[in-house]
Amino acid sequence: MKMMKFYLLSSLLLVFPLLALCDDRQVYIVYMGEHSGDKTHQEIEDNHHSYLVSVKSSEEEARSSIVYSYKNSINGFAALLTADEAAILSQRNGVLRTFPSHNKYSLDTTGSWKFLGLEEGIGNGRKVGKSRGSEILHKAKYGKDVIVGLLDSGIWPESQSFHDQGLGPVPERWKGICEEGDSFDSSHCNNKLIGGRFYVKGYETDGALNRSNDYRSPRDKDGHGTHTSSTAGGRSVHNVGALGGFAHGSASGGAPLVRLAMYKVCWPVHGVTLQDGDTCYGADMLAAIDDAIGDGVDVISMSIGGGDVPFSQDVVAIATLHATKRNIVVACSAGNDGPTPSTVANTSPWILTVGASSTNRDAPAPVELGNNMKIKGESITPSKLKNHFYPLVYGGDVASPHVNSTPGQCLPGSLSLEKTKDKVVLCFRGEGTRVKKGAEVKRAGGAGMILANAATSGSEIIVDAHVLPATAVSNDDGTMILNYIQSAKNPTVKLSPGKTVFDDKPAPYMAGFSSTGPNPVYPNIIKPDITAPGINILAAWSRASSPTGLDADKRRVKYSFESGTSMSCPHIAGIVALVKAIHPTWTSAAIRSAIMTTATTKNSIGKLILTASGKEANPFNYGAGHVRPSKAYDPGLVYDATYTDYLLQLCDNGDGQVDPNFKCPEIPPTTSDLNYPSLSISNLNGSVTVKRTVTNVGGNGKAVYFANIDQQPEGFIFEIHPKILRFSHVGDKKRFMVTVKKERKTTAGEYSFGWYSWTDGIHVVRSPIAVSSSV
Ligand SMILES: *[C@@H]1O[C@H](CO)[C@@H](O)[C@H](O)[C@H]1NC(C)=O
Ligand SMILES: *[C@@H]1O[C@H](CO)[C@@H](O)[C@H](O)[C@H]1NC(C)=O
Repeated sequence: MKMMKFYLLSSLLLVFPLLALCDDRQVYIVYMGEHSGDKTHQEIEDNHHSYLVSVKSSEEEARSSIVYSYKNSINGFAALLTADEAAILSQRNGVLRTFPSHNKYSLDTTGSWKFLGLEEGIGNGRKVGKSRGSEILHKAKYGKDVIVGLLDSGIWPESQSFHDQGLGPVPERWKGICEEGDSFDSSHCNNKLIGGRFYVKGYETDGALNRSNDYRSPRDKDGHGTHTSSTAGGRSVHNVGALGGFAHGSASGGAPLVRLAMYKVCWPVHGVTLQDGDTCYGADMLAAIDDAIGDGVDVISMSIGGGDVPFSQDVVAIATLHATKRNIVVACSAGNDGPTPSTVANTSPWILTVGASSTNRDAPAPVELGNNMKIKGESITPSKLKNHFYPLVYGGDVASPHVNSTPGQCLPGSLSLEKTKDKVVLCFRGEGTRVKKGAEVKRAGGAGMILANAATSGSEIIVDAHVLPATAVSNDDGTMILNYIQSAKNPTVKLSPGKTVFDDKPAPYMAGFSSTGPNPVYPNIIKPDITAPGINILAAWSRASSPTGLDADKRRVKYSFESGTSMSCPHIAGIVALVKAIHPTWTSAAIRSAIMTTATTKNSIGKLILTASGKEANPFNYGAGHVRPSKAYDPGLVYDATYTDYLLQLCDNGDGQVDPNFKCPEIPPTTSDLNYPSLSISNLNGSVTVKRTVTNVGGNGKAVYFANIDQQPEGFIFEIHPKILRFSHVGDKKRFMVTVKKERKTTAGEYSFGWYSWTDGIHVVRSPIAVSSSV
């Protein structure tokens, strides 16, 4: 038996769960800063190996313990180490720190499997009903020659969204590859999908990938990565639609001629299939970002969240800072844990963090109750119901008596066959996935389902390709239907099929699931930064997965509706690519600034954007507001920031060194002083003055800008000095000060919001301010 363990260790390396054999070993990241560029990849590997040899008992053991050697920009390696070995390595010359890479991330579709018991849904959405000036597309040549890399679940290369007709050769600077694996080889890349790699070594330290459940290659089994890729940069494809022809028309990514590269980092949770969860390991994501930097991507889109750890151990934060240093713009999803405060993820100031909101597309499907009351629901499920009234029951009333489950949630296995058969069942969101509720009603023999929102999701209606006729309604309407069921003698309902309409109600509104501020890591940076469409987005899908993602669902679609900040993030990545195509020399901070300061806080009827529960939304919901692509390429002024500015900001947060060549000054600037397009001041006592610098990027060179205080935060007052800025040329920088004072007593820790802007009569450069008081 001992012999056998030894045999496994030495020859099958990472394919077997080494942790089971040596239970005190785990994957550590040994972080060494950055490569200076004077070593070959072989020399780097040898160097990393020599560190390992110094703590391992043999050459052989050192070689078998390495998981990744990071070779492009990030200097360091991931290896299976004991705590003692890690501690010794952290003292070695050249090592900045070692930390366990126990943090795992997951894809940001609505809800997520990672928080058991919290609402989630694989489901849903809509595509590119984006109304936008075509000028930016034209000027940007549709993003031609900009390279967008996505970290995700892989890609379905045969989708029409990724065809390369008419696209010129791959840009010469591209160094990426098309990595072979299960059902994927170099023939699957083309002049559109120019790269595909996969990262599974970190994942496989916890057990080999079960290849019945995913492709061990860049190919996408889940659908998520195909969806995000086609949203950011899919080609214009005509005559697409989801099931039943909903949203029929053409689908196009935000920047339809960009080149795409997939870095597959997310896999099924060990022991289950993708329908029960995905997981993305930190060590794998670090390798993917390092390769993306080396390959030459211009934009990284990451619809991945989780992995709550301090900065010093946050591989995603560290890796994306390396990317930012090379002017790669990184867009990330804010997370789907809203509307609870302080849930926003991907909080670093060098990341563009994206919330989710609605579009103007709608799929109204009337619900008619037996008492003649009519309710507007939404549905994209092809309806096989007859055009007559069906008996209507509440899920809580037709549960199996022996199953202990939250009433009305219609969780798997909870409904009684006898009581449910041929009826329409009212279920509520809250626990479990939306599509599994539909599957449960179907299992129990129900004819259809009305799925009502939980109170927290308000009037945000998410549609799914349910496995039976199903209509989604708001929480208020759900409550009303429940009252009707409980008071009527023989409650009945008629569900009509949905149809697609545009411009049906004020849009956008914020998604209830969109994670919100204040920023739990850096309270003096407002997050999210921006919002973009993330409810009911139609985009390309994997042919290996059903539109519900459920294993039992055997339907296959080319395009599918999905909802989540996962879907809004690639919208921003696409817009970033367009701005980058027009302004190839702009820094990532300048591009972020352009997108933020031109955003709007108004909806389609000129009123303030609301939350899903009908309140006025604020910068902790949407940052600077809803993106306006037509304005984003001509912001007038930008708030620029350099790599050094970010390092200085980290000094203030006392949060672990990233760059061995950088020493923090004795008195570092405060985080509020980071030249950010928004301003947050937490725990104000008395007054504070922060500085900002704006750079003129307007076409004419000469420009005069005037300061406007658009709104004072309640209980506080702020001033801007000077109030006039005169620029003499493009690139001219001017500094101004913002002084914020407490005006009267407010509740400690409670934030108030204000707005200020600079305008030259043509451009409006707008920023939100968030301030809270300590006393
Ligand atoms: C792999 O997954 C399949 C399908 O989910 C399952 O039937 C099988 O038992 C799994 N194999 C292993 C080795 O876990
Ligand atoms: C606020 O400032 C006053 C005056 O400087 C000081 O006495 C007080 O301790 C401060 N309060 C807090 C909570 O920092």
